[in-house]
Amino acid sequence: MPLLLRSLELTRFRNLEHARLELAEGFTVLWGHNGAGKTNVLEALYLLATLRSFRTTDLSWLVQTEAPAASVTLQAYDEQVALPTTLQVQLARTGSGVRRSAHADGKLVRSAIDFYGRLRAVLFTPDDLAVLRESPSQRRQFLDRMLFARERAHIADVQDYERLVRSRNSVLRDESLTASTREPLLDAYESQLAQVGARIWSRRERLLDELAPGARASFAAIHGRPGVDPAQGAAAELGLSYAARLGTVAEPERAGALAARLRERRVVDRDRGATTVGPHRDDVLVRLDDRPVGEFASQGQTRAIVLALKLAELGLADQAGARPLLLLDDVGSELDPLRTAALFARLAEVSGQCVITTTAREFVRLPPSGEHRFWAVERGVVRATPGPAGPPAEP
Ligand SMILES: Nc1ncnc2c1ncn2[C@@H]1O[C@H](COP(=O)(O)OP(=O)(O)OP(=O)(O)O)[C@@H](O)[C@H]1O
Ligand SMILES: [Mg+2]
Repeated sequence: MPLLLRSLELTRFRNLEHARLELAEGFTVLWGHNGAGKTNVLEALYLLATLRSFRTTDLSWLVQTEAPAASVTLQAYDEQVALPTTLQVQLARTGSGVRRSAHADGKLVRSAIDFYGRLRAVLFTPDDLAVLRESPSQRRQFLDRMLFARERAHIADVQDYERLVRSRNSVLRDESLTASTREPLLDAYESQLAQVGARIWSRRERLLDELAPGARASFAAIHGRPGVDPAQGAAAELGLSYAARLGTVAEPERAGALAARLRERRVVDRDRGATTVGPHRDDVLVRLDDRPVGEFASQGQTRAIVLALKLAELGLADQAGARPLLLLDDVGSELDPLRTAALFARLAEVSGQCVITTTAREFVRLPPSGEHRFWAVERGVVRATPGPAGPPAEP
């Protein structure tokens, strides 16, 4: 459902007592000092998209200290039906936590699943850098989260898979079982694990194949193409591949190969008390010129790669007709002026509506064409200001 977002209103949301801001068709820039409330505004938009926060699982933190309730309201124009539409999330404190309720056009939407997806958003936060820097589980989660939004069946498969791994592990660890009871139990769990595991593996791999060309192109656009401008720093090619524990296996043979390997590993896995093969141990290899980024990439390169992955995600959702909102938190730090300019040029090319936070308004280099808005955020108060080219605004 393509939505054109018009305005956002916040009441008693974190440190924002009351704020109302119009959103630009192009870039909306929130600028101000550390701790001013910029990320809080992104968090409110993310809440409308997902009914969750990217900073906490306990939504009571989102309600202003001492306030009984908070609300976030979005006015938008639904291009499909050519009508204005309103989305609202209310958070009301209860004795133990907070009650969340979602409304569309003034009507309560009881099921989260019915609300979820009315507004699609792709978020970048500095925390996303962990996708490249930290453990394989972060990279698997990155793919799984995208798949959850695209294919409902993936959610159920991941839940089933995790449950089956736990069951297999508890059978392996159970010393009271004789071989004649243990082996048939393992046969049963492993054959299910292999079926579900093969589906998870194939979906992740296909998604990565779909993401790779867009990510490569965005990385090249932000960081520089090989052979172009070598004086501006090393240009490198981004490589993305799914690294299954089982190596390369054709799709139709995966369930069989997984089942066979699980059976082979029974003795080893019993010693370790864990299932050591399967998609819960897979990884995504991210390489620059064939070198692993974790060991090789600079800070700025790491940031450019993660941004490129986000833009590829945006591109896929866009193809599916969702036209997502892009939320970029603190996007600029660590990129040099050349890369910053290249990033904004790329964003202008590939993103629709985009909301950015920054501590330095000068840092933002927006294309001259397109409608942009700048909002200063200061101690929870949001007000309209000119962009960096306009007359200097009071801080
Ligand atoms: N529930 C709450 N009630 C009142 N204030 C809150 C609440 N939760 C957080 N805050 C305040 O919100 C502020 C943080 O806002 P936010 O994270 O949006 O800052 P920011 O402008 O993004 O800063 P930075 O540039 O450092 O990232 C902090 O000052 C914090 O004390
Ligand atoms: Mg912030």
